[in-house]
Amino acid sequence: MTLGRLVGLLAGHQFLSGQELAAKLGVTRAAVWKQVETLRSMGYEIEAYPRQGYRLLSRPDKLYPWEVAQGLETRFFGRTIEYYDELPSTNQRAKELMASCPEGTVVLAESQIAGRGRLGRKWFSPPGTGIWMSLILKPQLPPTQLSKLTLVAAVALSQAIYDQLNVRPLVKWPNDLYWNGRKLSGILTELAGEMGRLESVILGVGLNVNQKPADFPAEIREQAASLWMIKERPVDRKALLRHYLEVLETEYFQALNNGFDGVLEYCRQYSYTLGRHVTVTNGAQTFSGTAVAIDGDGGLIIDQDGQHRKVIAGDVNLTNQN
Ligand code: BTN
Repeated sequence: MTLGRLVGLLAGHQFLSGQELAAKLGVTRAAVWKQVETLRSMGYEIEAYPRQGYRLLSRPDKLYPWEVAQGLETRFFGRTIEYYDELPSTNQRAKELMASCPEGTVVLAESQIAGRGRLGRKWFSPPGTGIWMSLILKPQLPPTQLSKLTLVAAVALSQAIYDQLNVRPLVKWPNDLYWNGRKLSGILTELAGEMGRLESVILGVGLNVNQKPADFPAEIREQAASLWMIKERPVDRKALLRHYLEVLETEYFQALNNGFDGVLEYCRQYSYTLGRHVTVTNGAQTFSGTAVAIDGDGGLIIDQDGQHRKVIAGDVNLTNQN
């Protein structure tokens, strides 16, 4: 990607002449000038002086693939990135791509106009404020293990946020991260495969990063959180996404090779669900009780009047007992 290479060359922050850049990129000086213009139109601030050449002054707050790739320490995750300014849904795009893409391919969009949540809900995804991404995985796992991959994604995100920002969001079993009773992130895992074997898994992650309270639509304003609201300052989306991909890759292969014990332990230790009264909806079935455990399969154990019921999928709402 030549634009990315040009940014890489300019990243040293000294002046580089058009001639030097042209030689390094193997293009003409006119082509360099054209690419500089393209970068400017994409939000890069680049100075240019006749005898000194070009100098990068600032980068935009955009998740361009070469920005995310800079310093990324993964083997697979994010090594291929499809980036869009706007998409209906990154999960939908990832589904179209999954057969032809390697494991670890990431689809990113600055905004989604039909962002999908679980159970047919919408996911509010305004431009430039969040991380809206889908990761394509091809694990050798039976479909019964799928719910545990969602937990891996949630745990890795909570850990990555802690590493970068020193705050640890809690895991609301099995798909969400919460902070102070508000939803910070949601995960939508979708699968495609043949009987008995998962072919591809799409891990769709939505993380509210730089929204201020007034940026949320009125109907979710009281329930939603963003990292900006927690830290009371803007948060670097690129650095966070990069670190998330690194932690997620480590946790994913660790879980596939050595089992899910570590992930399950994290879910228990930093749970938003355990010890609370919950109402579970699974299709037409609804029941209530106290969430008492997460078992070795990643299932949620609900105590209903002394009887234990295991939930492996469904919508869990925290409810007041009276
Ligand atoms: C939920 O809490 O209901 C899950 C929300 C998942 C949202 C993410 S944003 C990126 C990816 N693309 C989508 O359309 N949805 C997921």
